[in-house]
Amino acid sequence: MKNILFLCMLTFASTGLAGDPALGKEKAAQVCTTCHGMDGVGIDPTYPVLAGQYADYLEKALQDYRSGARKNAIMAGFAATLTDEDIANVAAYYSQLKENRLSDTVFK
Ligand code: HEC
Repeated sequence: MKNILFLCMLTFASTGLAGDPALGKEKAAQVCTTCHGMDGVGIDPTYPVLAGQYADYLEKALQDYRSGARKNAIMAGFAATLTDEDIANVAAYYSQLKENRLSDTVFK
């Protein structure tokens, strides 16, 4: 029993802030869908596919836009409105949309 608890703690520690996909979905619907769509594929190839990407990757990208480490005029503006919690939540939401993952739809 103790081992299981320890494993759970390790899992949480390695993912940092565990995002809530349901809250992320709400946020995405308000802010992100105009470009990335609710399906994470986006309305146009100009916008990168978010569906099925690793949550850590999405989180890192959003934090970098917010801090200016990654420069993009469009995303900097949107990332600036997000809290750490929002970032974890939207990352959790888009990462779970595995059925739309680019590698599954395009490179099959
Ligand atoms: C006005 C259109 C627009 C909106 C709204 C928008 N994005 Fe983006 N997003 C873009 C564009 C364009 C890029 C590509 C930028 C670049 O080249 O770095 C991008 C890139 C990203 C990336 C990096 C993807 C990658 O593969 O590296 C993430 C993550 C992301 N957006 C998440 C979001 C989230 C979450 C929201 C809502 C809070 C959002 N975006 C709202 C246009 C938008």
